Amino acid sequence: CRRAAAAAPSRPGSSRAGSLAARSPPRPPARPGPTDAPAGERGFQGHAAGAQRFRFWEEPGPGAQGAVLEVHVPQVLHLQYGMYVWPCAVVLAQYLWFHRRSLPGKAVLEIGAGVSLPGILAAKCGAEVILSDSSELPHCLEICRQSCQMNNLPQVHVVGLTWGHISCSLLTLPPQDIILASDVFFEPEDFEDILTTVYFLMQKNPKVQLWSTYQVRSADWSLEALLYKWDMKCVHIPLESFDADKEDIAESALPGRHTVEMLVISFAKDSL
Ligand SMILES: C[S@@+](CC[C@H](N)C(=O)[O-])C[C@H]1O[C@@H](n2cnc3c(N)ncnc32)[C@H](O)[C@@H]1O
Repeated sequence: CRRAAAAAPSRPGSSRAGSLAARSPPRPPARPGPTDAPAGERGFQGHAAGAQRFRFWEEPGPGAQGAVLEVHVPQVLHLQYGMYVWPCAVVLAQYLWFHRRSLPGKAVLEIGAGVSLPGILAAKCGAEVILSDSSELPHCLEICRQSCQMNNLPQVHVVGLTWGHISCSLLTLPPQDIILASDVFFEPEDFEDILTTVYFLMQKNPKVQLWSTYQVRSADWSLEALLYKWDMKCVHIPLESFDADKEDIAESALPGRHTVEMLVISFAKDSL
């Protein structure tokens, strides 16, 4: 997939990936805008906390009845990447919203979920959702749980799933139809671990698809060789095809001016 040139963040002024620049963290997105709810009374383990609202809608028109869906997620001042909604998450959530009629009953796993906007939206649209984040990052798992509580989704499970680890929680997962991955392709040394986890799930269901958004931070990295090695293929989905080619989505100021791309990755021997 040639458009999958991804995603290693680079220091300002640095162009060569593979240097230390590739290890610098993605910058947290700009803080959310006026649609945010005021800070809640309850903090998050000593950190200031509030709620952020995303409002997805479809105008009524020929062939469209009109629909609205609100998702609230926690907003915490914390250094962990998983505690923010990243620009990629809003774009992936918009893709799910666009395809919401296909979601009821689907088994959906979100990896590297953090505050879990896409997974929460999928659950609200009727999918059977499991949220996951690194088993070594309890704060991130806790924020997944808070997102479920905030949206009144007690049926959504949260599991610790570290990319590349064949853990008990991975082994016991039921077959999945869709894996969601928003802004997980940012550290090249993790790419193969992510694909290993996906490959393992493809053994349980060869038709599973990885729906993933990534932020273009460097043109120097590519998933192509790894996809070939792991017997996978990918299709690049143009943002305009699901109404995501704009700076504001779901009444939020994200993705802003960040360049985000959308991919669907599947087992090479399956046809999309
Ligand atoms: C840039 S954040 C994206 C969060 C969220 N998906 C979003 O787009 O708003 C990357 C996420 O990957 C998780 N993560 C990082 N390393 C991980 C690993 N080795 N295994 C599983 N999750 C990991 C982080 O905790 C964080 O939630």
